[in-house]
Amino acid sequence: MNTHRISDNIHYIGVNDRTTERFETLWPLPYGVSYNSYLVTGSDKAAIIDGVEVSHALQQIDAITEILGDRKPDYLVINHMEPDHSGAIRILRQAFPDIIIVGNAQTIAMVNGYYGVADNTLIVKDGDTLSLGEDSSLKFLLTPMVHWPETMVTYFDKEKTLFSGDAFGCFGALNGAVIDSDMDTAVYFPEMIRYYSNIVGKYGQFVQRALKKLEGVEISTICSTHGPVWRQQISKVVDLYDRLSRYEPLDNGVTIVYGSMYGNTERMAEAAAQALAEAGIKNIVVRNASKTDLSYIIADLFTHAGVIIAAPTYSDGLFPPVDAVMTAMSVRGLKNRRIAIMGSHTWAPMAIKKMSAHLEACGLEPITEPVAAKQAPSADILAKCRELAASLAATLG
Ligand code: FEO
Repeated sequence: MNTHRISDNIHYIGVNDRTTERFETLWPLPYGVSYNSYLVTGSDKAAIIDGVEVSHALQQIDAITEILGDRKPDYLVINHMEPDHSGAIRILRQAFPDIIIVGNAQTIAMVNGYYGVADNTLIVKDGDTLSLGEDSSLKFLLTPMVHWPETMVTYFDKEKTLFSGDAFGCFGALNGAVIDSDMDTAVYFPEMIRYYSNIVGKYGQFVQRALKKLEGVEISTICSTHGPVWRQQISKVVDLYDRLSRYEPLDNGVTIVYGSMYGNTERMAEAAAQALAEAGIKNIVVRNASKTDLSYIIADLFTHAGVIIAAPTYSDGLFPPVDAVMTAMSVRGLKNRRIAIMGSHTWAPMAIKKMSAHLEACGLEPITEPVAAKQAPSADILAKCRELAASLAATLG
């Protein structure tokens, strides 16, 4: 059974999913994902905090029974209703008919809307507490839009533990250990950037509000809904979420995203990459938008300070895979980037126009004039691509 002791009063009762190909049927899961759930026991009451995805319900129930024996859980606290955490609610209620479902008003409405469960619920407000017995209680803090409107976090004062919902979470199943100090966490940090930028990236201002709300709360353990329990590396994780949610680049590197049907636009991207390297930029990632999954490109864009986008015109518009990248940028309101664009066409010069419109939607201004190639890029055009890249490099210090 996948139970782990986190502390005297907290057990991990979550599950690993190494089967699902794509999270939300969108985002690839090469390392799997964990749906974290916790059991908190006080002298009088026991509370499950966060649930699991429906196909893992029986595994979670077995874990609860293994820890509690004949005792039954009294509460199910729902920090977040997305079905990766709420899918097992109805099965849990069948196993433990008296369990009280705890959430804020929006949560409880969603429990009914998704699962037709409306009885035996407890609605909590921001700052409310729930006693689990002598010296121990749970406190609820509403953190809307991290990542849905009903999201909240739960604080267990006795052990200074924050149950943070999706916040501070990452992709990647847990490989035996659960707490960061018991494992090599290297794989989880790139997956945290990919998780944040793709799933929560649109809601930076709300993450910032949540971080402000948590200032002054003494936290020794973070139990999020995905990935390791953070204890040793709390400051690193909080700092990463803080920087990402302020749309602050993590380094002075450059992401080059290009689309190319027959290699002509690709030559422009290659020329720019070479010029960046010659200008001393070491961290350069060149992505073919037709091949690399969008989620990795979004993560790159959230990581690097510089961006070059190159794409051909296609059917009087922008080449679709690059259009998808630029739409993803504007949906997430990507800011604070040095950016330059290059376009190509055979007879109708639409790519630059469309890229410019995307940048305007983002509020991003190109650092220099775009480079446009008609048909194959000439030596002059390739020289301009190199000049564009050199100009970008100069802005990155
Ligand atoms: Fe892990 Fe927004 O659900």
